[in-house]
Amino acid sequence: MRQILLLSLAVASPLAVGAPPAVDPAMLELADRSRCLTCHDVDETVRGPAWRDVAKRYRGKPEVEEALVTKVYEGGGGVWGNDYMSANKRAGLDNIRVLVRWILSLP
Ligand code: HEC
Repeated sequence: MRQILLLSLAVASPLAVGAPPAVDPAMLELADRSRCLTCHDVDETVRGPAWRDVAKRYRGKPEVEEALVTKVYEGGGGVWGNDYMSANKRAGLDNIRVLVRWILSLP
């Protein structure tokens, strides 16, 4: 239920016209609550890769979604460098799925 609500928020929130690609505030808030933003930013590489770079890397490969959800949940490394993403189990699989879907859809 919560996931559906969040998804509809993501779709319904108005994108600023003419501005640089807007970032959905509801998604940012969820990422913040899920503790992703200690290591990630949408536009800049922090400890983890910039989420727009993640979107670029997997553009046109929707089949990676489930593997990414599992990786964020359980932690993992070896794709972007030598660093390792620790597990994010407290964020919960449903939230992580919503976030990964959003990340992959970033322009
Ligand atoms: C402790 C720091 C840390 C936290 C917290 C963190 N990440 Fe990461 N994340 C990383 C690092 C480091 C990588 C690069 C891993 C690699 O090279 O495979 C990464 C990679 C990723 C990737 C790309 C994975 C791939 O295989 O290409 C996604 C998507 C991602 N993170 C999403 C999230 C989300 C969503 C959250 C919050 C629930 C989160 N991360 C929390 C450090 C973190």
